[in-house]
Amino acid sequence: MMNLSTFAAAFILLLAAYCKLDPFHHSAIADFPDFRTFPVDMPPWSEIPTVRDPRNRLRNSEIKFLDQVQGPESIAFDPVGRGPYTGVADGRVVVWTGGAWSTFAETSPNRSEICDWKPAIMSYLKHEHVCGRPLGLRFDKRSGDLYIADAYLGLLKVGPEGGLATPLVTEAEGVPLRFANDLDIDDDGNVYFTDSSSLYQRRNYMQLVFSGESSGRVLKYDPIAKQTTVLLRDIMFPNGLSLSKDGEFLVFSQASGRLRRYWLKGEKAGTSEIFANLPGSPDNVRVNEKGEFWVAIHSFHTRLIHFSAFHPTYRKFLLKLPVSAKLQFLFHQMGLPGAIAVKYSVEGELMEILEDGGGKVVKLISEVHERDGKLWLGSVLMPYIAVYNLE
Ligand SMILES: *[C@@H]1O[C@H](CO)[C@@H](O)[C@H](O)[C@H]1NC(C)=O
Repeated sequence: MMNLSTFAAAFILLLAAYCKLDPFHHSAIADFPDFRTFPVDMPPWSEIPTVRDPRNRLRNSEIKFLDQVQGPESIAFDPVGRGPYTGVADGRVVVWTGGAWSTFAETSPNRSEICDWKPAIMSYLKHEHVCGRPLGLRFDKRSGDLYIADAYLGLLKVGPEGGLATPLVTEAEGVPLRFANDLDIDDDGNVYFTDSSSLYQRRNYMQLVFSGESSGRVLKYDPIAKQTTVLLRDIMFPNGLSLSKDGEFLVFSQASGRLRRYWLKGEKAGTSEIFANLPGSPDNVRVNEKGEFWVAIHSFHTRLIHFSAFHPTYRKFLLKLPVSAKLQFLFHQMGLPGAIAVKYSVEGELMEILEDGGGKVVKLISEVHERDGKLWLGSVLMPYIAVYNLE
């Protein structure tokens, strides 16, 4: 009879062989023969903020437009105050016209019935590269033009009347944008934007996160010279981006749980540094009237995420198991944590954390847009916009 340790050894051997061969093609990286894992530069555990919102104040939010907007990641209002405008899962930018949502803009010239409404938000992934997926949105205050970072179609612009957006940037230095994500515009009309990865597209978000690779870029588009400059390269998953209120610097969030600052003016211009450590993995960053930064957090860092950040071999082993990337993801962040919004001062100090622990009312957010005493909360995965009244 086989004793337990022999059995265990045999099991591990079989598992190892299985992972090596993945005969049924079930693992999260089965379709990525070049998949590699890298150490992630996450802050030391002791430097990760642990403050929480015991009152779960985001549960007092109002859920608006339920089932009228799918995956409204970013929220914008135009210079004359109309809106909100938001980009949704089917590839359109839609606008609230005080009674109904209507189509404002499209990013892809190739839309067809394959882009039409679907009940499950994940079903859109398959055709995103054809239909477009608008993420970051910002209006140029002077011209009223809307700039769009579309995950597949790059940086685009559409006039105040809407319609089909014009592509402005699809590559830089000969490297195509693979995952344009967020943007901001300075007073001269220059557009600063992030390309989260040169290797993985949005639909392979989880592979990108588990890989920890650093092919992301922060770029600048000059609309007069029509030129694109790479400001920072070899960045691990740059995501949301916002200029400071005075325009002296920009900050961008990184999946590793940091805000980085890039100086645009002054003696440090052209250099970057850590601005703040975040309590978890972030999405968009938006500045308020006072110049403070609101950051939407997808999930808190767990001990397991922290461990796996520094152990790429562990991540690679895990991903070879016949388990979908989605389940791996949920396991590492211990399920869905609910909505988390954090506010940082102009100097990068943590000022406020608002939560809905467990997502009782607001499940997940990707942007916190402060306007007239309210927080407009967008979410790339949810079928609503939540609105929270600041007390
Ligand atoms: C639209 O379709 C044409 C023809 O198939 C193709 O060449 C082009 O790249 C597509 N454009 C986009 C933005 O997908």
